[in-house]
Amino acid sequence: MPRRLMVTTALPYANGSFHIGHIMEYIQADVWVRYQRLSGNEVHFVSADDAHGAPIMLKAEAEGVTPQQLVARIAAERPKYLQGFHISFDHWHSTDSPENVELSQDIYRKLRAAGLTYTKPVEQFFDPVKGMFLPDRFIKGECPKCGAKDQYGDSCEVCGAVYSPTELKSPYSVISGAPPELRSSDHYFFRLSDSRCVEFLQSWTQDGRLQPEVANKALEWLSGENGLADWDISRDAPYFGIPIPDAPGKYFYVWLDAPIGYLASLKSYFDAGKGKGQTAQSFTEMLGDPGVEQVHFIGKDIVYFHTLFWPAMLEFANRGQDAAPGDTQLRPWRYKVPKTVYVHGFITVSGAKMSKSRGTGISPLKYLELGLNPEWLRYYICAKLSDRVEDIDFNPEDFVARVNSDLVGKYVNIASRAAGFISKRFGGALAARELPADLAEAFGSAASEIGACYERREFGKGMRRIMELADLVNQYFDGERPWDLAKDPARSTELHQVCSNALQLFRELTLLLKPVLPELARSAESLLGVPPMSWAQAGQPLPQGHRIRPYQHLMGRVDQATVDLLLGLAPESPAAPAPAKMAPSQAASVKAPPVAPGTNEAGDTISIEDFARIDLRIARITAAQAVEGADKLLRLNLDLGALGTRQVFAGIKSSYDPAALTGRLTVMVANLTPRKMKFGLSEGMVLAASAESSGIYLLAPDSGAEPGMKVK
Ligand code: 2FM
Ligand code: ZN
Repeated sequence: MPRRLMVTTALPYANGSFHIGHIMEYIQADVWVRYQRLSGNEVHFVSADDAHGAPIMLKAEAEGVTPQQLVARIAAERPKYLQGFHISFDHWHSTDSPENVELSQDIYRKLRAAGLTYTKPVEQFFDPVKGMFLPDRFIKGECPKCGAKDQYGDSCEVCGAVYSPTELKSPYSVISGAPPELRSSDHYFFRLSDSRCVEFLQSWTQDGRLQPEVANKALEWLSGENGLADWDISRDAPYFGIPIPDAPGKYFYVWLDAPIGYLASLKSYFDAGKGKGQTAQSFTEMLGDPGVEQVHFIGKDIVYFHTLFWPAMLEFANRGQDAAPGDTQLRPWRYKVPKTVYVHGFITVSGAKMSKSRGTGISPLKYLELGLNPEWLRYYICAKLSDRVEDIDFNPEDFVARVNSDLVGKYVNIASRAAGFISKRFGGALAARELPADLAEAFGSAASEIGACYERREFGKGMRRIMELADLVNQYFDGERPWDLAKDPARSTELHQVCSNALQLFRELTLLLKPVLPELARSAESLLGVPPMSWAQAGQPLPQGHRIRPYQHLMGRVDQATVDLLLGLAPESPAAPAPAKMAPSQAASVKAPPVAPGTNEAGDTISIEDFARIDLRIARITAAQAVEGADKLLRLNLDLGALGTRQVFAGIKSSYDPAALTGRLTVMVANLTPRKMKFGLSEGMVLAASAESSGIYLLAPDSGAEPGMKVK
């Protein structure tokens, strides 16, 4: 029976763009999800924006927009990242949604029915000018321990002391600057200290479902001296959040409704008619099936919320429902407790720690804009991930070396070497697979071994094993010396066998890498002439006579200069490309016919004024990408220094690997009327030389030229 899974990633706050930490988590979850799908399991992979809370409310106010407008603006930029890194969410929703209101209020009512909520007065700082209670982060003052000025209400960045805001000396409101006043108001609490909760959590956290280090941490919290503290789940108006039923002016604290947003997203997904067609019928059907597994991927900083509050809320909502069978306000469904919570560490860049709000030195958007291949990052991150709560480091040199040596040098290399012989010598047809015993044995158990690595999130181990297998194939290929076999017509059968075997194993490796490299796998499947492969097809040889397509470029090498640009390091001077052999054709996409020196095509001359009308400028290529649906074009992003940036579509794809272009300088016509093309606006042309028969040669200035300089 296929497994039935609901998978989520932590909901990102909706007041900032994704940083590399988010993308790392999404890649980890996406690879796991893709493996499950390839294995025939039913997966519903959902996430949402975490929209509520005081910081978002105050930020919107500072920008003069409503919180909803702020959230919508951030939400609008999400798809670019998600599609860019091939993250295959089935649905993306928001905690500021009717579904989340319904679910949060339902869970609260059920917890109330279970006798697990209560109110008590709480004294808190209040900003008398702004007229609101202040979250800890919106109060500053002098540290009570070391006296440092301008420290936040919860901890001191100078001496590290942790305290409550009321201990600050000379406190002031970050919003109005006014000294805050202590005021009392009634707050709502979830009675986590209740023995029923503690007993349930003792069992839920310690029954083997969590990673050992996470279970240990939970045990520490559970068995601390004072046990678990009750949880303050309310905030007073004004607050951007969900109203608490029967409590005018009170809202749920953002962390109450945030995880419920997982379920709200799932509900909106089903209500929108998505998700059916597998066995799933509806949100309630999913919740009602005890076999459905609810799995959450999160970072190590939010373990408390996900391993204590969240399972307890779900479990005791159900018990509340049992306790109040006749209550018609309660929704009919029962909640699931999470099957598990998978916790990962943080990502550092060259060892530097990431800030939660600002991320690290790597901007995921810049990564994409520079034309760096998203699958390089997917592979690199996977090569570093394990099932433990460990931080991983993005090291630029290691990144370049790992990607180039593993993906290009080992995996792609097999196809690029073997496919040419098969196409040119054997009409693209493969011989039956006949593997030497050692290769047959190594590959015989590969899919179950690597599958287990994916299942257990031991991705680094899996990638190492796959590359060992790729090494074996390359050693076999080299050992058979196909280039020598090719010289001897009598050994044609051997050549056919070696190259066919190599491609058969390339197919196996493609399947093993498919959760990590979905696009590369798609290209490889097309090269191999096979429909999308699933895990069950591992080990099934392509039949004798099966035809492959002619080899096409699968993946380029990462170039260090572009990675340096990503990290904001000064680019090295671009390597000088092949010199222009002829008068430059202005339109790189149009091949110029040979012309006699000194004349133009029409045989006329032009005046110096005519020439001066063309605004030629030095441009730096900051990103180059293939254009979907266009065989010849590359999309170039050009930096013209003070003149700003331009997008140009250039017909140079046949001669240039996009990755190799990024960072280099060239010459462009900057005052050409922009042209609307099917793929977007082309705002100029780059100059390149070409002739009928040879390639295309982009112009490049001598070193010292700067973006924006005039060429005359
Ligand atoms: O820490 C954060 O970024 C939170 N927005 C995560 C919420 S996860 C879930 F509970 F919604
Ligand atoms: Zn201090």
